[in-house]
This record gives sequence, C-alpha cells and structure tokens, in this order.
Amino acid sequence: MVPLIDLSRRLISNSDSFHAVVQGILTSGNVLLAQQTEMFEESFASFAGARYGVAVSSGGSALQLSLAALGIGEGDEVIVPAMTAVPTASAVCAVGARPVIVDINDETAAIDFDQVESAMTERTRAVIVVHLYGRPVANIERLMNLGVKVVEDCAQSHGATRGLTGSVGAYSFYPTKNLGGIGDGGMVVTDDPDVADRVRRLRVHGQSEQYVHIEVSQNHRMSEIEAAWLNVVLPQLVSGNERRRKIAEQYRLANASIQWQKYDANHVYHLAVARISDREAFRQQLFSRGISTGVHYPLALTQQPALQPFVTGACPVAERWASECVSLPCFPELTDDEVIEVCHALAESSQ
Ligand SMILES: Cc1ncc(COP(=O)(O)O)c(C=O)c1O
Repeated sequence: MVPLIDLSRRLISNSDSFHAVVQGILTSGNVLLAQQTEMFEESFASFAGARYGVAVSSGGSALQLSLAALGIGEGDEVIVPAMTAVPTASAVCAVGARPVIVDINDETAAIDFDQVESAMTERTRAVIVVHLYGRPVANIERLMNLGVKVVEDCAQSHGATRGLTGSVGAYSFYPTKNLGGIGDGGMVVTDDPDVADRVRRLRVHGQSEQYVHIEVSQNHRMSEIEAAWLNVVLPQLVSGNERRRKIAEQYRLANASIQWQKYDANHVYHLAVARISDREAFRQQLFSRGISTGVHYPLALTQQPALQPFVTGACPVAERWASECVSLPCFPELTDDEVIEVCHALAESSQ
C-alpha cells in the first residue's frame, strides 16, 4: 500500500540524533521549560518571522491562549471559517466567547472576507484565519483594517507564511503536521511582548512568580523531550516542504481535470486535496490500486453536532468541500516510486 502518511519513516531516520539529545536531558534532570524548550522557542519564532515564540502543549492550547492573551472572553464573538478542524472553534468556546461560523471561498477554501464583514457585530473582537491544508491566506491586512484582532491558525502551514500579518500566530506540532512532534505540542508566535508575557504566564496556571498566581489558568506546558525532538527535525522543514510541493505539483499535472485547491506558490501542502463529486467511488478506485486516501474533513463546522448551539445558518460552500474533499498521500518521505504510482492512478481515474 502507498500510505496516506507513515510517520515511522521520519522517526526512524532521526532516531540516532534524538537518542543523543534525550540522553542529555536525562543527565541534566531538567524535563520541563528548560534549555531545549528555550532553544526551540527561539529558533521556531525566528523561522516563523516573529519576535517571540512561546511553546505550549498543543495547537489547541496555542489558539486558546492566544485568544485569552488578546483579552478575549465572556460575551465576545470570534469569527471562524466553516471549513477547518474543530479545535479552531473549540478554542473560542474555551475562553468563554462565541464562535461565529462563516463560509469559505470556493477556490481557495480560505475564510470569505465579504462574509466576515457581514458577520461583524459590536461584539466581534477577533477573526481566526486558517491557512487550510498549508495554503496561505492572502490580504489579511483587510481584516486587520476592520479594527479586530486577527489570529492566524497556522496548525497546517509551517513555512507557508514568514512574518505575521495578524496579531498572533498559533502553531500545532501534532505528529502528522509539516513540523511534527513525537507527541503533542504547539506554539504562540507574536511580535507583541505583552502578549508573549501573558501566554507565558497562562501556560503555567497564571503564575507570575513562584507560587504567586495573578490570573486563573491551567497547565499548557510543552515537555523538554518534545522540544528536543522538534529541535532535531526543524532543520528539515524547508526541504520537507519543498518535497511536498513537488509531489503535489506532480499530482496536479497527472490529472489537470480534477478540481484542486487553487494554486499558490507558497502552499506547503500539509495536505494535497482533490475535490471529487463521487468521492467514495474515487477512493475505492485508488484503494484497489493500493493507495490510501483520507478525508479532511467530512463535516463542515456547521455540521458538527457539538457546535450546533453556535450555528445560525448553513455554509453551502464549506459543506460542499466537506462532501468532496479527498486527501492524497503527500509527505516528504514518500518514495519516487510511490509518487509515480499515485500519479498513474490519478491519470487513469475517471474524474
Ligand atoms: C487547523 C487546525 N487548528 C488547530 C488544530 C489543533 O491542534 P492540536 O491537535 O495540536 O491541538 C489542528 C490540528 O488538529 C488543526 O488542523
């Protein structure tokens, strides 16, 4: 089978360097918020083009703490796109605010800026922009000019954007991401020293100095082991993204009549997604040729049972994306033969 993703390839090829660093952590006795985490915060913030980086326990935590640090909470509204992973919206609920779900652009799958403008009320405090599948959302300045905070959900877009346009960026290092950990992890990046300080405090129970807590929060720490792994694999991110881009471009060329997410030179293809009207037949066709596929995501936010209290109407564009999207194998460790196999299957598909 050509796998949709096979993490063991990356894990095995980095195991020697990782073991050496883990040995250093064990010898030092420092397992939380120590040298590895600081090193990773500095190097990833610099990679992302931001002044500050605060490592946290997951991408969901990064979103939640970003919103909290921007002062968003009870009674506020935060606009989110209808096509994204659920954590984009649940982070809004976690700070006590209300997610307002708007539709996406049909070609790019990015949040539809016109719909953002129509959804604004006097309670709107922020918009979360998601660089979905690794395709960077353009013209974020337009949202900044509306006088709201913009949180960039960069969970799928490491390297697609350099430098922040929004107020803050939230990254996930979930193992399958372009920069994937060996467990969970995330980071808030920002150019604002006050936001960075507040996130740093919020990740340790709101503690400002030892045993003094000036606001209520929980534990959102990243472990040293996780940071050590991320330090090992960060230098491979640029070449990994380049490889993903080449693979996705081969797929597009193999069958240009398939409806692909709109091209962008800076797309980092966390996922290479095709839109197929008879999705099940297509997936079955590929499966019978030994090719695994996935669906990200089968439901738009408006269709998620848990989010029904926040749904005010359908989002037809996102819902169509959810019914048609198919993710193809696209990760740096795919072999050339595997890529060719997928290309042949795409070329022969009836789409
Ligand atoms: C767009 C998006 N936002 C947020 C998250 C949440 O990240 P994590 O799983 O690290 O909490 C994910 C990953 O699942 C994601 O894909």
